[in-house]
Amino acid sequence: MYDIAFLDIPPLRSAGGTVRLPGSKSISNRVLLLAALSVGHTDIADLLDSDDTRVMLAALDALGCHVEHRPGGVIRVQGLGGQLAVSSVQLFLGNAGTAMRPLTAALALLAAERGGCFELSGIARMHERPIGDLVDALRQLGCPVECLGQEGYPPLRLGNGSAVDLKLDQPIRVRGDVSSQFLTALLLALPLVARERAVDIEVVGELISKPYIEITLNLLARFGVQVQRDNWSRFTIAAGSRYVSPGLVHVEGDASSASYFIALGAIAPASEGTTGVTIEGVGLASIQGDIRFVEAARAMGADISGEANRLHIRRGQWPLRAIDLDCNHIPDAAMTLAVMALYADGTTTLRNIASWRVKETDRIAAMANECRKLGATVEEGADFIRITPPARWAQASIHTYDDHRVAMCFSLAAFNPDNVRVRIEDPKCVAKTFPDYFEALFERCETPVDRIPVICIDGPTASGKGTLASEVARRLGFHLLDSGALYRLVGLAASQQGMATDEETLRQPSQAQRLGALAASLQVRFDGEKIWLDGLDVTDALRTESAGMAASRVSAVPEVRQALTELQLGFRRLPGLVADGRDMGTVIFPRASLKVFLTASAEQRAERRHKQLISKGISANIADLLADLKARDHRDMSRAHAPLKPADDAKQLDNSELSIEASVQQVLDWWQGKAADAGN
Ligand code: DC
Repeated sequence: MYDIAFLDIPPLRSAGGTVRLPGSKSISNRVLLLAALSVGHTDIADLLDSDDTRVMLAALDALGCHVEHRPGGVIRVQGLGGQLAVSSVQLFLGNAGTAMRPLTAALALLAAERGGCFELSGIARMHERPIGDLVDALRQLGCPVECLGQEGYPPLRLGNGSAVDLKLDQPIRVRGDVSSQFLTALLLALPLVARERAVDIEVVGELISKPYIEITLNLLARFGVQVQRDNWSRFTIAAGSRYVSPGLVHVEGDASSASYFIALGAIAPASEGTTGVTIEGVGLASIQGDIRFVEAARAMGADISGEANRLHIRRGQWPLRAIDLDCNHIPDAAMTLAVMALYADGTTTLRNIASWRVKETDRIAAMANECRKLGATVEEGADFIRITPPARWAQASIHTYDDHRVAMCFSLAAFNPDNVRVRIEDPKCVAKTFPDYFEALFERCETPVDRIPVICIDGPTASGKGTLASEVARRLGFHLLDSGALYRLVGLAASQQGMATDEETLRQPSQAQRLGALAASLQVRFDGEKIWLDGLDVTDALRTESAGMAASRVSAVPEVRQALTELQLGFRRLPGLVADGRDMGTVIFPRASLKVFLTASAEQRAERRHKQLISKGISANIADLLADLKARDHRDMSRAHAPLKPADDAKQLDNSELSIEASVQQVLDWWQGKAADAGN
């Protein structure tokens, strides 16, 4: 996950390959609640692991429901059998609407029936998301519900500690034209009190987002509760209802998440060696309403074929066809159409989307603002958005409003024909439903390698370039190449194989060749901070002084440098690379966007190295370290091949007097300046 301030996506060219989507958010949270309310335990496979489901799991835990993580990623929920394990608790539900609404209904009913008291709250945005229609419905039933802030909004207090009689003899009226989640909440909760008599719900106003109600009814049936539906306006829960676990439930891939990869396949030419984008885990037999995004994408020109549990997408008509569509049936996925509209041959209108205004953010305003930043002409109304593609795309920093869908949608702007990069602010907001979205995207996208930005940080030993490079990489979400580690690996591998690496030996051509062959065949794996050689963790062994000295010697051998070139170039992957070493800017990435040459006085460096070793409990002597360091500097600078020296266009940074943070900030400032100059 990219836990950073912003993520710059370079212009992308093509896409292809297979993606398996995380589980559906709507199904995951409904199944969790149903499992908790059921008799018996439920095993849930492929449950979505995201902010919203974590919120629900934490709430269930606080309610005394036992949840167990079993092998194979299966979650086992011990049902409470419609009982209350605790009678009073405060629940913090973040910004998870799919937890807030159904828990409100279920806990209000249980508290009223059995005498409990629950407080439900969330983040500030959650307290701006209306829940008054659900509160009204629960009050009609006789449930004590108090809005603790503004009337009609969370936080809420449910129940007052005493049992009250519920009024189940008349139909419960609930509005259906603001959010279908209120009806879903009642449908999930009312079976708990429909033991002796059937319970009726009457929908007031035109019901929106019907497909989400279908998911609810479908899942209720799987947990043993039948609901009779009359025209989307009346729902009857049978008398004698009781939730019973179906044993095992598989959660489908999220159809709303699928929309980004469907759009990807429709927008991007297929990468070489692929036939487009394949999505697994969700397909034409999905119970999720957003699967109908497939029809909308086809209408815009996407070439989509599918099976029950799989979809395959290729670019069809290009540019895409502009459409005019009522999107009431696909409220979430329709946001993706707004971004596809940027690639269309005319003006696209998406209608009947008033519910966008009460989601994670006001999504009509958000999509309009951000599309305009990219150069589109946008008109917005209370319940529609109309988008005309940019004549020329502008470089933009996309604000994401803590809304996962805004972030995912605008990543697709990186295929723009004007090759401008797209900045996504607060990219980690995708964690709400798809924590690894950007990783999944980059893995399936390609772009010419010279468009992938590289920042080179070269400098002498112990100048702090490793620390600087890894922090700059972390802040930008870029990959990291510690090229020194590769030379250290060669030194280590040589000594493991009993090869001498003294200068005398290495001057013999046959030895140099052997060492080059060894470097070319290194079996190395980088795994976060860890480095594995031939299946052994060598992270610590590589950091020793002697490994550094050996590296310095083997690195003077041209055959070794040559053998490691390909390996180093391979680190240049989306979305970008920070490379540290001696010749990153001069030899390996001579056309890098930013080159930094880091220096500090030899005395300063020796002192830092000394501190570092002492802190690791390794005894060291400053005078010896200084001598070693100078010897390495001399060898690294005077060798014939790729000697250590600043590239002509490198920025020099003497960090003798700078804190790490100040150095990091300086490099990031230079980087921002470069990006602004380049206009991309
Ligand atoms: O950065 P470091 O201390 O881990 O590097 C170890 C040795 O490897 C260094 O003394 C010289 C060599 N090296 C190199 O020649 N070229 C690089 N790009 C990186 C390191």
